[in-house]
Amino acid sequence: MPVALNMRLTGNEEQEVTLTGTLRPFVAEEMASVRSSLEQAARSARGTLCVNLKRLKYMNNVAFLELNRFVRWVAHARPDLRIKFVLSSVIPWAIRKFQVIAELYPAVTIEVYDKALYPTQPVLEDDEFINVLRMQEKLIWNHEQDILVQHGLRPGLRVADICCGLGCFDIFIQRDFRPEYLVGVDHSRPLLRYARQVVSDYGLENIEYQYGDAAALLLADNSFDFVACRLSLQIFHQPEKILHELVRICRPGGRIYITNEMLSCMVGYPNEEVIQQGYKSFLQVSRQGGVDLDMGPKGRFLLQGAGLEDIKISQINVSNTNSDPNDLARVVELWIRVAWQFGAAAGADPSLHADVEKGLRAHMETILSDRGYAVWPIIAASGRKPFRTS
Ligand SMILES: C[S@@+](CC[C@H](N)C(=O)[O-])C[C@H]1O[C@@H](n2cnc3c(N)ncnc32)[C@H](O)[C@@H]1O
Repeated sequence: MPVALNMRLTGNEEQEVTLTGTLRPFVAEEMASVRSSLEQAARSARGTLCVNLKRLKYMNNVAFLELNRFVRWVAHARPDLRIKFVLSSVIPWAIRKFQVIAELYPAVTIEVYDKALYPTQPVLEDDEFINVLRMQEKLIWNHEQDILVQHGLRPGLRVADICCGLGCFDIFIQRDFRPEYLVGVDHSRPLLRYARQVVSDYGLENIEYQYGDAAALLLADNSFDFVACRLSLQIFHQPEKILHELVRICRPGGRIYITNEMLSCMVGYPNEEVIQQGYKSFLQVSRQGGVDLDMGPKGRFLLQGAGLEDIKISQINVSNTNSDPNDLARVVELWIRVAWQFGAAAGADPSLHADVEKGLRAHMETILSDRGYAVWPIIAASGRKPFRTS
């Protein structure tokens, strides 16, 4: 039962006990030291005792029942004390069971921390969004492949793709770069189901998909040579938290590679003014939903802030002259729907969406016109993890 237990006073009359690792006892007695540490914390805590389980990788029912008994013990020994369990959706059944405990004991509350952090997740799991990801990936790969080489990807590396989505990128990487080992992590079960199905349909080996949270990865420190996080930092309102995890799992000397969009520089001619206004409104809508679709140029700043060195920046340009214009127009059409969903989730002004639709339809016309020129720019940035951290 390799579980680590850490206790700290967090101020504001709150004491926190954190359990990390695996909590799979065969019998309740194996939980004795965990129980006694929890009771010790509960005896000295004032106000609220926070029991943080968000980094727990596995927990079984024996452990759950012991935590339940601990709650019962607190109700008698410290009736004035409140207990807050912090859970993550990594162990989904535990959320349902702790909800029952919270109903039975008024002093108990639960917080599913990743639900609050990622309000756009329902949009990302929508079927239409799956189509967006699939089409985007098809368009981007031809232009990204060489850029990846410039950013240090080569055969034989241990690669992690965090926020892997449908995993199309991983399949291309496996085919064209033959990594020693490749893991894709995502927080969406439907997307991972799709990714695993593709891997099994094509009999691909060496790719593992993991359900997990990019802000609290279940991967070991210093364990990858190349850590990618593509078109995803931009969806988090605290990207530094994710970067911190990417750096943690990368080995010293390895590289962290991120890509992000730059919607304010979306190019289209003719109809440039309507197009620009459309993307400006798209940006406004997405920002209201906590997403920054103009993060691309901030890549260098972010990577430096995370303590990385040897920063490289490249621009991936998908245009209607270097890619299939029908595919590009289809992606833009799907974005109209995504913008609408972001807007609805964020309670944005509907007139903004009218602007988005007008601008993006004009962009589609430009893309499909023989005389038009349109570019979708994406910024790729990477940095090396130093050997020595100060
Ligand atoms: C815009 S998509 C990009 C997917 C993929 N990298 C690509 O380029 O197609 C963002 C991805 O981040 C995933 N995601 C969102 N929140 C996450 C989290 N907390 N941990 C891991 N993945 C998350 C979503 O499920 C989605 O697959």
